[in-house]
Amino acid sequence: MEDARRHYLDQIRYDGVPLSPALARAFAAVPREVFVPDGFHRRDGRRVLPADPDYLPTVYSNDVLVTKMSGDLPVSSSSQPSLMAVMIEALEVRPGHRVLEIGAGTGYNAALMATLGAEVTTVDVQEDVADRARSALARAGINGVRVENADGYTGGSQGRYDRIVVTVGVAGLSPHWLDRLEPGGFVVAPVEHAGTHPVLAVRGSVPGPVTASVVCPAGFMTAAGPLSARHDGSHPPPAAALGELTEAAAARWAPALEALAYRDLWYAAGAWHNRATHASVPGREQSYLALLDDSGTAGAVILPDGAVLASGASAERYTAVATALMDRWWALGRPPMRAWRVGLARAGDPGAPIWVPRNWELTRRP
Ligand SMILES: C[S@@+](CC[C@H](N)C(=O)[O-])C[C@H]1O[C@@H](n2cnc3c(N)ncnc32)[C@H](O)[C@@H]1O
Repeated sequence: MEDARRHYLDQIRYDGVPLSPALARAFAAVPREVFVPDGFHRRDGRRVLPADPDYLPTVYSNDVLVTKMSGDLPVSSSSQPSLMAVMIEALEVRPGHRVLEIGAGTGYNAALMATLGAEVTTVDVQEDVADRARSALARAGINGVRVENADGYTGGSQGRYDRIVVTVGVAGLSPHWLDRLEPGGFVVAPVEHAGTHPVLAVRGSVPGPVTASVVCPAGFMTAAGPLSARHDGSHPPPAAALGELTEAAAARWAPALEALAYRDLWYAAGAWHNRATHASVPGREQSYLALLDDSGTAGAVILPDGAVLASGASAERYTAVATALMDRWWALGRPPMRAWRVGLARAGDPGAPIWVPRNWELTRRP
């Protein structure tokens, strides 16, 4: 077991994820299996039960463990540990901090933050999920976590917070969270951008200004309720598959962009063009950066090597847009997503508004 935990830490650190000594001790101390007692679905969809030989090796791997499905859709999980690590480090959790988590899920992330000395309130919209998280925290002997069943939009039942962390994908931030922040506090949240959920560190108060820096790329399941409302500035929903694609521009980069650089280009495309999102391409497993026309089912796909595949009546126009976006990003020296500064504005349903990304500015050259 000790070997498994050491290997676990190595996997989390893989690719340069920062892990402070305190957070490494928390990951080593909190038993993740206690938070998935009924098994889980692996990323490839396979169900793994506690009696299965790969149960513990998968629990102590850098993988998301899906703990609840609704049909084909995952609706609760223990997130990927390296992503939890990046988000907790970005949150700068200190002993005695009061932390609000939106999306209790299994309770494991709350347990890690409590082990760092925080007083945690964690909220989940699904009652059975909240109940299971409460039981798991008790079985693991974790003190200092209160679990609530509510829509996280409300900000939970009471209290002010030094930090708020959101572990479900949102279109924007609830004003109730901003109202609950202590001076100097901030929110770390995965906020929809061009079909993905890059994690933002957001500061400010209602009525504004509210600004954010970008922490890292991420993909999360989508929040229920007003937190995922569509708004005037929404990028199009991802396209399941674009048919009849033909190569409209040849590859321009050899080797192709690495995964993180491709995400940087993707982020810039979303900042510069409101039709950027992601699309599946027939015959390929991954999904790609795409610019969709008004039908939402055609447009241009940018591959990591810079080739453009296009479809539909506006194929030529969207190919030109895709090419111009790549030229612009390249000419600026391939700015990383962390170089962007985001301004947020109030949007959505006037009865349940959210603060959404509205303008983007490059703050520095790479
Ligand atoms: C990825 S899981 C959270 C992972 C969790 N932090 C952990 O450590 O296991 C996302 C959770 O967000 C919850 N959720 C979705 N929409 C929500 C909302 N509007 N308010 C609160 N929780 C929500 C889901 O029920 C799900 O359990």
